[in-house]
Amino acid sequence: MIATEEIMHAFDVENIRRQFPVLNRTVKGKPLVYLDSAATSQKPQVVIDALVDYYSGFNANIHRGIHSLAEEATAAFEATRDAVKNFIHASSREEIIFTRGTTEGINLVAYTWGRQNIKAGDEIIISAMEHHSNIVPWQVLCEEKNAVLKVIPINDEGELLMDEFYKLLSPKTKLVSVVHVSNALGTVNPVKQITDAAHNAGAVVMIDGAQSTVHLDIDVQQLDCDFFAFSAHKLYGPTGAGVLFGKKHLLETMPVFQGGGEMIKEVTFAKTTFNDLPYKYEAGTPNIADVVAFKAALDFISETGKEAIAQHEHELLRYATAQLQSIPGLTIIGRAKEKAGVASFIIEKLHTQDIAIILDNQGIAVRTGHHCTQPLMDRFGISGTTRASFAVYNTRQEIDALVSGLHKAIRLLS
Ligand code: ALA
Repeated sequence: MIATEEIMHAFDVENIRRQFPVLNRTVKGKPLVYLDSAATSQKPQVVIDALVDYYSGFNANIHRGIHSLAEEATAAFEATRDAVKNFIHASSREEIIFTRGTTEGINLVAYTWGRQNIKAGDEIIISAMEHHSNIVPWQVLCEEKNAVLKVIPINDEGELLMDEFYKLLSPKTKLVSVVHVSNALGTVNPVKQITDAAHNAGAVVMIDGAQSTVHLDIDVQQLDCDFFAFSAHKLYGPTGAGVLFGKKHLLETMPVFQGGGEMIKEVTFAKTTFNDLPYKYEAGTPNIADVVAFKAALDFISETGKEAIAQHEHELLRYATAQLQSIPGLTIIGRAKEKAGVASFIIEKLHTQDIAIILDNQGIAVRTGHHCTQPLMDRFGISGTTRASFAVYNTRQEIDALVSGLHKAIRLLS
């Protein structure tokens, strides 16, 4: 109790907001109200500074040069790997592969582990609330291998039907790949339970952590998942950088993904031998600047305090849900008991795009549409939702602005 009070006392949202320069701007003459952090979060000054420092101070290609700039750039790049390892509690830095983002991480596993291990008649299980990036790579793989894609259904609240999941598991199940936190509903899925059950059935587990890593404490050893993918840009870091965690024994035996420089040990025309982990999966010049600056984002989160951030966001979500529910004709889509970061809704007779335009005229940024989860929208019999998503820098006043913006939309559009 004392600890909670201390955390709440320590959290100063105005101080946080001052660290995000974009929040000072206006949109259509109104102060920006940014409620689209699930699409991409805004960046604190320390991250912007880290990008500028890299380009103005020690830009060089990494792992290749022995000159001072190359050594400094390599050290900074590798320091981010250590920071990521600590952030997600991986047991070794060799398990941290830098990618372009979550999508590339999932595709890497589909193209390497998937092509090596999936055979005709095998089954891959995903869920009804997956983002397209955790559907399409497996669909492509299943078509190629004549394997079968199975889908865990959900209830009307947007929660996985775990009994149905258990029924889907069989000796044919080779992989279970599920989202940790739904980008469209906010549902927090019981990934530890899923992982344990999948392992008991002999399957490998991949978790899409694109939305969870910023809201929840991630401990890949405790979760015991085999693969975990996420993106820097949803964690207050730069776009175009991400992470794939994979258990070392799997990464070691998987085939290579992209061929090129850095991922090799020795190349002759007769044969190529491959580099050690993690470099085996990092062909070509990586996104050095963005990976280097990602460390500043992770430090920002750690210094602000992950627990304090989570509490702040949880309080915003609770407040937003109560306020939104008081709007006539509004239905929340996704009412799971365990939720994080996202309030998705529809309003009777109003088109989501019209709502977004009216909100934008008031400086309010939300995302509308199917959120790259078309099968999920089909499950709810809707074409899309309006989604407000919350981050460390949002305030109750911004939620009040959203609610009054929605009242205005209803007045104008009805
Ligand atoms: N997948 C991201 C979102 O939900 C882009 O907005």
